[in-house]
Amino acid sequence: MLKICFFHQKGGTGKSTLAMACALYAAQQQQRVMLVDVDNQGTATQWWQLHAPTLQHLPLQVRGQLQESLPDLLPRLADHFDLCFIDAPPSLTQNTLQMLQGCDALIIPTRPSPPDLWALERLALLLHTEPYAKLSHLLVFNQHQGEDLAPLRQLPAVASLTQADEAIPYHPAFAALYLGKPLPSALNRMMGTLLAAFL
Ligand SMILES: Nc1ncnc2c1ncn2[C@@H]1O[C@H](COP(=O)(O)OP(=O)(O)OP(=O)(O)O)[C@@H](O)[C@H]1O
Ligand SMILES: [Mg+2]
Repeated sequence: MLKICFFHQKGGTGKSTLAMACALYAAQQQQRVMLVDVDNQGTATQWWQLHAPTLQHLPLQVRGQLQESLPDLLPRLADHFDLCFIDAPPSLTQNTLQMLQGCDALIIPTRPSPPDLWALERLALLLHTEPYAKLSHLLVFNQHQGEDLAPLRQLPAVASLTQADEAIPYHPAFAALYLGKPLPSALNRMMGTLLAAFL
C-alpha cells in the first residue's frame, strides 16, 4: 500500500480538495483507495458522510476522527488497500512530522502566491534532511489563474523542491466536488498525471 500525504503548512491551498479528487480518480481506475482524514476540520470526512451512498460503486473508503494513531492504523490497512491518501492539517506539529515519517510520498499543493511559497521554507529544509529525505515529493501549483509561475518557481524554497510541470487551474468544478459533482474529464486526467509521479 502506497501512502501519499497531502500537506502544506498554509491553509486553503487545496490539500483536501486534491486528496479527494485523486482518491476519486484512483478508485475509478479500480485501485483500492483509503482516504484518511487527519485534520480536525474534517473536510474529507464530511464530504464522505454526504456522498458515500452515491460513490458505493467505487473501491473507495474514507476514515476520519481516528481513535488510534496513524502508525497503528496504517499497517492494518496495508493488506486491504493499494493506495492510502492522507489529508493533513495546515500545521507542522510533532503529529504532522510523525505522520510524514510514516508516508512514502508527499504532494504539496500550493497557490501561486509568495506567502504560500514562503511558508514552505521549513518543509523544504526538512525534505532535505533525514529521515524525511526518503519521502518522494511533488510540489504542485493549484488554483492557477494565469499567474507567471517562472519567478515563483525560482524562489529558494521552491527551487529546491521537485515541481509538477502542469499547474492545476482555478476551476469551479473543484468546489462542485463537495456537492457530489464529478470533475470534468480534463481535470480528472490531471489527477492521474499528478499520481503518475509516484505509481
Ligand atoms: N483548483 C481549484 N479551483 C478552484 N477552487 C479550488 C481549487 N482547489 C481548491 N479550491 C477551493 O479552495 C478552498 C480550499 O481548498 P481546500 O479545503 O482543499 O484547502 P486545504 O488546503 O485543505 O485547506 P485547510 O488547510 O484549511 O485544510 C475550497 O473552497 C476549495 O473548493
Ligand atoms: Mg483541508
